[in-house]
Amino acid sequence: MQPSNPGAEQPSPQPATVYARIGPEPLAQLAVRLYANIDSDQRIRAIFPADLSSQSESVRDMREFLTQFFGGPAAYSDRKGHPRLRARHMKFRIGRDERDAWLENALAALDSVASEFAIDATTTAEIRGYLVHASEFMINQPA
Ligand code: HEM
Repeated sequence: MQPSNPGAEQPSPQPATVYARIGPEPLAQLAVRLYANIDSDQRIRAIFPADLSSQSESVRDMREFLTQFFGGPAAYSDRKGHPRLRARHMKFRIGRDERDAWLENALAALDSVASEFAIDATTTAEIRGYLVHASEFMINQPA
């Protein structure tokens, strides 16, 4: 039995940012696994660059962006300026089908990362919510 000591057993408040809670590695793996999934998804593979390996520029961009967005170091903007994500996606044809395919790959990547790194349900839901809503915002073509 623990001695009664009100207050001492309170969980500390959750750190404000996702990055502060989970650190860099899960976000790095989310980028790697998202692009590994896209690499074998013929619905959208053709609009991405040839190299989607873990060492690719695409993975680096995504890793740095996610890290920065979720509260980590701003390596993405230091290197590339303001993300302007919707504008950067305008050169690709992204309709509902492309978005749904992308999101499926992103959520599968998130599931595998959340389970491997034992990410808590609240944090996982926060990341999932961002992926769902931001990908909707990337649609730039009518259905
Ligand atoms: C949560 C939603 C999304 C986020 C956070 C995101 C993030 C990014 C980032 C950071 C880049 C690199 C941009 C750069 O620095 O030039 C990128 C590129 C790209 N994204 Fe997205 N994206 C999202 C949704 C989508 C969707 C729905 C599609 C549709 C299939 C898509 C297709 C692409 C393509 C084709 C590229 C170019 C890849 C490359 O050249 O390396 N993205 N995205």
